[in-house]
Amino acid sequence: MLIADNPFEPVIKWSGSKRSVAASLRNLFPRAARYFEPFVGGGAMLPFRPCRDAVAGDVIEELIDLWVCIRDEPDRTATEYKKRWHKLQDEGHTAYYAIRDTFNRTRNPHDFLFLTRTCVNGLIRFNGDGDFNNSLHHTRPGIAPQRLREIIRKWSVALQGVSFAKADYRETLSPVAADDLVFLDPPYAATRGRYSQEKFDVGGFYAELGRLNDVGAKWIVTFDGYAGERTYEESLPKGLFEMRLALPTGNSPFTKLMRTGVDAVVESVYLNFEPPAKILRGFSDDRNEKARVGVGLEVEQGCLFV
Ligand SMILES: C[S@@+](CC[C@H](N)C(=O)[O-])C[C@H]1O[C@@H](n2cnc3c(N)ncnc32)[C@H](O)[C@@H]1O
Repeated sequence: MLIADNPFEPVIKWSGSKRSVAASLRNLFPRAARYFEPFVGGGAMLPFRPCRDAVAGDVIEELIDLWVCIRDEPDRTATEYKKRWHKLQDEGHTAYYAIRDTFNRTRNPHDFLFLTRTCVNGLIRFNGDGDFNNSLHHTRPGIAPQRLREIIRKWSVALQGVSFAKADYRETLSPVAADDLVFLDPPYAATRGRYSQEKFDVGGFYAELGRLNDVGAKWIVTFDGYAGERTYEESLPKGLFEMRLALPTGNSPFTKLMRTGVDAVVESVYLNFEPPAKILRGFSDDRNEKARVGVGLEVEQGCLFV
């Protein structure tokens, strides 16, 4: 069976989402007792985890609060969006900026969902004080409330069994044991944190992967990559992983934004185990050369977790 494009629409739109490649990545997931995703962001892989029990974490506290609302109170979450959406249609941009101000004072997750759905290009952007500062996307009304309600309900079902943690990835991963699967999608190595000018500490990240190896857990990491001739790549040290694959993720968000042309972005996928050969047919081995493959993968059965 050839897996089509991921039909699971995003509930939280997030920069760096794995949505476009979720249908391919899911095929690499082995069976596991528990699933851990410590850089959850928009959680594109969560519905495809191989087991019900899961722990998902992120350092953005408002994001985790919103995930909990979607899991536990889908109808209330949809209704709160509907109220704000109608206010925007009735009152225009002043409603957006009033809700943004309220969010920056109270950190209400329902305000946050509304902002993610109505801000310019859906880009979640915070200033140095940690305040949301993207503007209203004037030319788009934001997703219609009834459509979002259906999406939220579907996600709420898929999220049962997931515990959410407001935590640094190392804390989220502290209970990982030998039968568990960890999927890690950290920020690009060159990315700075929300509150600090410090870049993501790749040394600490490698140390944590080494610890997971010692524990005996399986992990999959998506990490940097290249677009056209430019490389964003920070390679994982040899000896830490078993296999490295290449995964085309679509067009570069940077070139799209800059309108300077369109590059194909390829992301590196590292695993500390070797999946069955039939699963690997759709990826190319990226150890020595750049990737050439498309994203369709042949598998015998799907594993959508709903
Ligand atoms: C590339 S995004 C993940 C995208 C996600 N896979 C998706 O499909 O939407 C990386 C996430 O890591 C989070 N993050 C950055 N540093 C972190 C840390 N030290 N611990 C936990 N999460 C962190 C960011 O807030 C961001 O949401």
